[in-house]
Amino acid sequence: MKIGLNITTLFAVGLLAVGCTSEISVEHLNNLTSVISVTDSVECLWLPIEEGDYEAQVIAVGSDNRTAPLNIRLAQTKVDYYMPFTLEGVERLRVENCSYENLCWQNLTTTQPDLDKSYRQDVHFSTARGWINDPNGMFYLNGEWHLYYQHNPYGARWGNMSWGHAVSHDLVSWEHLPAVLYPDELGAIFSGSAVVDKDNTAGFGEGAVVAIYTSAGARQSQSIAYSLDGGTTFTKYENNPVLTSHRIDFRDPKVFWHTPTERWIMVLAAGNAMEIYSSKNLKEWTFESRCGEDWGYHTGVWECPDLFELPYENGSKWVLLCSLSIPERGGSSVQYFVGEFDGHTFTPNTKTSKADVLNYGRDYYATVSWSGVEDGRKVVVGWQNNWEYANDLPTQGYRGYMSIPHQLRLVNHKGAPKLVAEPAQEVLAQSKTLHSEDVVEVKDKYNAWRHNCDDGAFMVECDIENVTAQVLGLKLFNDNGDWVDVCFDFAENVLKVDRTNSGVLDFNPKFASVSEAPLSDVARQSIKLIVDRSSVECFTDIAAISNLVFPNGCYTRLSFYTIGGTAKVNNLTIKKL
Ligand code: FRU
Repeated sequence: MKIGLNITTLFAVGLLAVGCTSEISVEHLNNLTSVISVTDSVECLWLPIEEGDYEAQVIAVGSDNRTAPLNIRLAQTKVDYYMPFTLEGVERLRVENCSYENLCWQNLTTTQPDLDKSYRQDVHFSTARGWINDPNGMFYLNGEWHLYYQHNPYGARWGNMSWGHAVSHDLVSWEHLPAVLYPDELGAIFSGSAVVDKDNTAGFGEGAVVAIYTSAGARQSQSIAYSLDGGTTFTKYENNPVLTSHRIDFRDPKVFWHTPTERWIMVLAAGNAMEIYSSKNLKEWTFESRCGEDWGYHTGVWECPDLFELPYENGSKWVLLCSLSIPERGGSSVQYFVGEFDGHTFTPNTKTSKADVLNYGRDYYATVSWSGVEDGRKVVVGWQNNWEYANDLPTQGYRGYMSIPHQLRLVNHKGAPKLVAEPAQEVLAQSKTLHSEDVVEVKDKYNAWRHNCDDGAFMVECDIENVTAQVLGLKLFNDNGDWVDVCFDFAENVLKVDRTNSGVLDFNPKFASVSEAPLSDVARQSIKLIVDRSSVECFTDIAAISNLVFPNGCYTRLSFYTIGGTAKVNNLTIKKL
């Protein structure tokens, strides 16, 4: 069809029902602008997506809370997968910057297409469809763990940042719920936190859940929204934003109640440092202090802080978490600082430039804690991914996972506090033993176990002692030649996780790698390995390594090996999670 001056006539011919069902009609207003209408009974329209750089702008017309145009990769020449567009409150969709010749018009559907199941994990959270990054707004209330997350509901790459939502009773199985916050005239909805306002300090209502997030528009500012139904739906505060700055990077507010000063404290990333603000009502914020400019890594912009107190020795210490890219440590990392916080200022105990990291793996970022955990534990979750290759993961229709929830403690390591993660006790409580052996003498090689893929995620746990070997390794294999090697290198005093032969690697040259964590000097080492369809998380008494893997078929075998001597593996248990 030739597009010429008579474009209006040409396109105003009338409703052009294009190859979909009788429920969908498409009107092309001109060669780049179209309107999609759907009969009233239809609740969801499935949009055909092509993963490329091109994006159309889709505007929901009606009384919908999606008030800003959404950037959607509508298929031009091929359909990679489908994304749902829920239609409650939507009269029609106006689509701009999308040629009437594109393939998408023939492939709109109201029937739910199949989900790609490859690499879907068993106990690691992923969104049903679309993109996921940072965990956001987590709070625990009445037996429910709420998890919101950075989400693109309209494609499996970063964009249209919204807050997706899921809830769990056991931190293992998650129910997917509708997204709660969509981009608006102040910008996209970036990371943030949520608190339960028991005393109604904000005046939204007793027990309101208040989300504090970054509005990322031309500038970054902090906004709030409240929920009066326990976190299922949120209303944005009419006087947003509640905190602005001249800084370009000013984001990821983490808010908690500070009992000694009876105020809310917000810590947020501002440039490559942290700022602390206080408030009596979550609406008006007062600057307290700025810290971090002269300590820690500064190899990337500081992001996603958290600040909390943990028991240490006979007292307690405060911990400041800070996510950033540290290229020498493999990209996305969470550094932390231990120190004191007096309600105004955080002061680290040491001002080292090379701070320790919370996890020595490649895939653990933007880690923050749940608010409101009754027993005071710091239960956290990290985004199981790395900005170095996040948009390239070899999954279809969805992209990104969370780590399993971890709980944190401070241990005395070589005379100084060290922050250590272990699987949250809720995750361990779900396990059922599949295999156990009391004592195994490992000399060269010992084939320990064959796994049935249908059993899903599993945990390997054992103690290692009487070591004369230089290396004791645990190796996971499948029948397609893929393996992951987790080894105690006693000669170098490090734990190594090698994923250079773990399966699919070629989606990004930065993926194949060996991670290393320090070992403690104890004579008896213990390890927990959590193995899921596309990740391996390892925990020793002082370090954790969380890594993605994409094996061509799940790992079905576990063996131990030694180099240069022998080792005793005690209390080997393999549990289904
Ligand atoms: C960290 C981050 C945050 C930001 C969000 C945007 O991964 O860059 O700083 O709020 O992602 O999606």
